Amino acid sequence: MKTTNDVSDLEYGALKKIPGWLGFLDYEMMRCLVSLQNDFTQGAIAEIGVHHGKSFVPLARFSGTRKLYVIDIFEDQEKNIDQSGCGSRTEFVSNLKRFDIDMGRVTIDQRVSSEVTANDIVNKVGKVAFFHIDGGHHLDAVSADIKLACDVADDDTILVIDDVFRPEWPEVSMAAFNSRHLIEYGFQLFAIGFNKSFFCRADQVGKYQSLLRGNEILECYFNKTYRVFDREILVYQYYPLPEWRFRTIIIWCLSVWQPKIYVALKRFLAW
Ligand SMILES: C[S@@+](CC[C@H](N)C(=O)[O-])C[C@H]1O[C@@H](n2cnc3c(N)ncnc32)[C@H](O)[C@@H]1O
Repeated sequence: MKTTNDVSDLEYGALKKIPGWLGFLDYEMMRCLVSLQNDFTQGAIAEIGVHHGKSFVPLARFSGTRKLYVIDIFEDQEKNIDQSGCGSRTEFVSNLKRFDIDMGRVTIDQRVSSEVTANDIVNKVGKVAFFHIDGGHHLDAVSADIKLACDVADDDTILVIDDVFRPEWPEVSMAAFNSRHLIEYGFQLFAIGFNKSFFCRADQVGKYQSLLRGNEILECYFNKTYRVFDREILVYQYYPLPEWRFRTIIIWCLSVWQPKIYVALKRFLAW
C-alpha cells in the first residue's frame, strides 16, 4: 500500500502565511488521509468554515482533481453568533489562487451552513468523501453540520470535526457526543489529532487506521491506542500536564511549533 512519508513534500511552512487555525499534526493527518483516498475514490471534498483557507488549501492541494464545496458566511459576520473566526471571501479566493487551486473545481456557498441542503451539495459535486466541519461552534450549528455531512456521505467518507475535545467550545463536544445522526449513519471515532477528531463508518475503521499507522511522520506523534468496548481509537494528542518535567515540555513544544526539528530528533534519537 502506498504511504505518504516524504518529509521533503511538507508544505506546512508555506501555510503559515495564511491566518487561521491548523496545527502540524492535524495538517499531516488530513494530508495523509485525503491524498491516499485519491487511490480509491473520486468523491468530493467539503469544508464548512474555511475562513482564509488555512485548512482548505491543503485539502484542495492534496485531493487531485476531485471537486470541492465550501461553505462560509465570510463577510456576513452579523450571522456569526458565536464569533468562531471571521471569514473573508476576498482573502480566501486570493489564497486559493496563490496556491494554484483550479477554481473550476470549487463551489463557494456563502450562506449560514444550516441553510445549505444535501441536495445543494450533491447537485454540484456529488457525494462527499472527505467532509471537514469547522464553522459555527455552537450546539445547533454543529448538530446541523453533522447531519448535513452524514446526508451527503458515501460508504467510505471521512468526517473530520474541529474542537471536539477542546474545553473552550463545550457545545462542539455536546453536538458530537449526542449526535443521533452519527450513530444512525454508523459513523464512529477512529482517530484523535491535535484539534481534529476523525470519524468513518465502522467497516472502514481498519482501512483508515492502517493508512495513518503507515505514515512515518505521524508515527512520531502517535500516543496510544485507546480501547473501548470492541472499538479502538488512535490517539495522537498529548495534553501538557503540570507534573511534566522540563525536558518533556520542551519536546512537546517542538512537536507543536517546530515539527521538522521534532520529527528529525525523534527519528535520530529514537525516543
Ligand atoms: C474557526 S473558523 C475556520 C478556520 C479554518 N478552517 C482555518 O483553517 O483556519 C470558523 C469559520 O466559520 C465561519 N462561520 C461561523 N459560523 C458559521 C455558520 N453558521 N455558517 C457558516 N460559516 C460560519 C466563520 O466566518 C469562520 O470563517
